[in-house]
Amino acid sequence: GKVRAPTHIISTISDDRGEEPCYAGVPMSSIVEQGYGVGDVISLLWFKRSLPRYCTQFIEICIMLCADHGPCVSGAHNTIVTARAGKDLVSSLVSGLLTIGPRFGGAIDDAARYFKDAYDRGLSAYEFVESMKKKGIRVPGIGHRIKRGDNRDKRVELLQKFARTHFPSVKYMEYAVQVETYTLSKANNLVLNVDGAIGSLFLDLLAGSGMFSKQEIDEIVEIGYLNGLFVLARSIGLIGHTFDQKRLKQPLYRHPWEDVLYTK
Ligand code: ACO
Ligand code: LMR
Repeated sequence: GKVRAPTHIISTISDDRGEEPCYAGVPMSSIVEQGYGVGDVISLLWFKRSLPRYCTQFIEICIMLCADHGPCVSGAHNTIVTARAGKDLVSSLVSGLLTIGPRFGGAIDDAARYFKDAYDRGLSAYEFVESMKKKGIRVPGIGHRIKRGDNRDKRVELLQKFARTHFPSVKYMEYAVQVETYTLSKANNLVLNVDGAIGSLFLDLLAGSGMFSKQEIDEIVEIGYLNGLFVLARSIGLIGHTFDQKRLKQPLYRHPWEDVLYTK
């Protein structure tokens, strides 16, 4: 019989050994000739399957909406300071990316985890939020520095509108909205933010598309695929900020003394 040498690496998403590279078994020529978009490529390389058009469109909308949010947010600020320190593109990019985490842009996975757990256990919004408060955990996907109940995040509205039109079910999103209604009754800044909207809607995408088993959904949520959407999207903006600073020949940034409270 055949004797196989043991391998040190297992890989299941792509293969470059043939005449053309394949993503999850789909050759590059099909990807190009059939007019696939970046949402399809993400479906193949992250989820190892072709997803229906409304799903890939949703992924692309997430990428477009999260590509940038101006120069003042944590990630862009770091990137701008790094570019102005004369560092190269990759350094400036990763400096911004490193701010993505539980407070900024990286709350999508935890939002999906907590909303899913609370919804599946049948907790009311009140029970869920109060149980989080008791544990001393801020609700991921809720709250924003500048958005308010009377000044909602347009990105959230656009995602919700798309999903209400195209998704077979938006039960997790509706649950997130119930949570928001309750948190807004406590404070005006506790809106459903873009991380919470993507986290809850991706649960609806996974559950409603009929393309994933229950076990696969649990695995996706447990591993935490969804922050990848923000990382990928925001890289577009951070690269843009790097070029912008270089184009403008901006000097080394030094924070003004007046803006620091020096105290003992
Ligand atoms: N759940 C419960 N209570 C909250 C939450 C929340 N998610 N956010 C704020 N609060 C309450 C708390 O009582 C907080 O007091 P505490 O510091 O004692 O916990 C109070 O509001 C004031 O909070 P601030 O720190 O002043 O709010 P800030 O405007 O700085 O925070 C932030 C904004 C970081 C987004 C916050 O709401 C948060 O941590 N949210 C959860 C994480 C999250 O979803 N981040 C993604 C944001 S969207 C994006 O980055 C693309
Ligand atoms: C973003 O997308 O960067 C924001 O929602 C965060 C912010 O503070 O505006």
